[in-house]
Amino acid sequence: KPKLKTVQELVAAGEGLPERYLFPPTGGGEGQPLNGLMPEMEISAIDLSLLFSSSDEGQEELRKLHSALSTWGVVQVRNHGITEAFLDKVYAQTKQFFAFSTEEKQKYAREVGGYQGYGNDIIISDDQALDWIDRLHLTTYPEDLRQLKFWPEIPTGFRETLHEYTMKLNILRDQLFKGMARSLELEDNCFVEMCGENSIMDIRFNMYPPCPRPDKVIGSRPHTDGSAVTLLLPDKNVGGLQFLKDGNWYEAPIIPDTILVTVGDVLEIMSNGVYKSPIHRVVTNTEKERISVATFCFPHAEQVIQPVDGLVSEATPRLYKTIKNYAEIYFKYYHQGRKSIEGAMV
Ligand code: SIN
Ligand code: FE2
Repeated sequence: KPKLKTVQELVAAGEGLPERYLFPPTGGGEGQPLNGLMPEMEISAIDLSLLFSSSDEGQEELRKLHSALSTWGVVQVRNHGITEAFLDKVYAQTKQFFAFSTEEKQKYAREVGGYQGYGNDIIISDDQALDWIDRLHLTTYPEDLRQLKFWPEIPTGFRETLHEYTMKLNILRDQLFKGMARSLELEDNCFVEMCGENSIMDIRFNMYPPCPRPDKVIGSRPHTDGSAVTLLLPDKNVGGLQFLKDGNWYEAPIIPDTILVTVGDVLEIMSNGVYKSPIHRVVTNTEKERISVATFCFPHAEQVIQPVDGLVSEATPRLYKTIKNYAEIYFKYYHQGRKSIEGAMV
């Protein structure tokens, strides 16, 4: 099969919109046009520096964390220990990478059957509509899983930034897992241990070019994340990220230099459904490109995932199977709303 053009190439070629990008109006939000004005949601903020304090303030942060993750499945972290200047650099270098010529970017192109590297939306089935997105997908942790041939040497310093970002997020992820465990009155280390010492980090750099038909084309179709948690650096200026709640879509506010933490399917499983892996999507616009950097934190492939003992009781029966390699189920129903997580239910 001929290689599909990336969305940036399509736009540059000016050939008009291929039919494969027409998104069927499914996945909730009946009566809400794809490019309509959605009600804005609130994303509560927790202060990481207070999360482990034994004071009343600490208790309050844990309560807020529990409330956010058990309702919307998303929270923003403040005082996460990563400077604004550093987050700006990650964002700026991502933008610079996508601004290079196709020829330069193709040096890091995804290979057939693989997922790491640069390319357009992943194609799972022939009748799937395509997302209006180009991305660069890299496993960055543990270091022995890195495939450096996909790591761009452009712009200068991008590789070093990626390494540094990974190391910083690695610390943040463990802190979050501990805080989440504590907010559920579990042993601090239970999620860290279930995901394994060498748990995996995949970073996906997303580029959504301006789109001629935001009423018919979607940037990222409704899906849950297959991770345990996702640490998201959303665009600082351009909106489009939306969450589904009780059948309606809500627009996430634009919050510069924040890190949004979303619950993924694996955490939903480990928490026996107390923390919800939210359905979300990204819509396009005609004017502005949108950039985001999503870091997916996965358990190591060897780890067995199941609801933690402390959350299973007669009153709260076990909702999910014991699973090894959730990624297999996830990709079978890739980006089809809650289909993959339903595949993990007892
Ligand atoms: C996604 O969840 O698919 C991407 C999120 C984003 O671009 O903000
Ligand atoms: Fe996502």
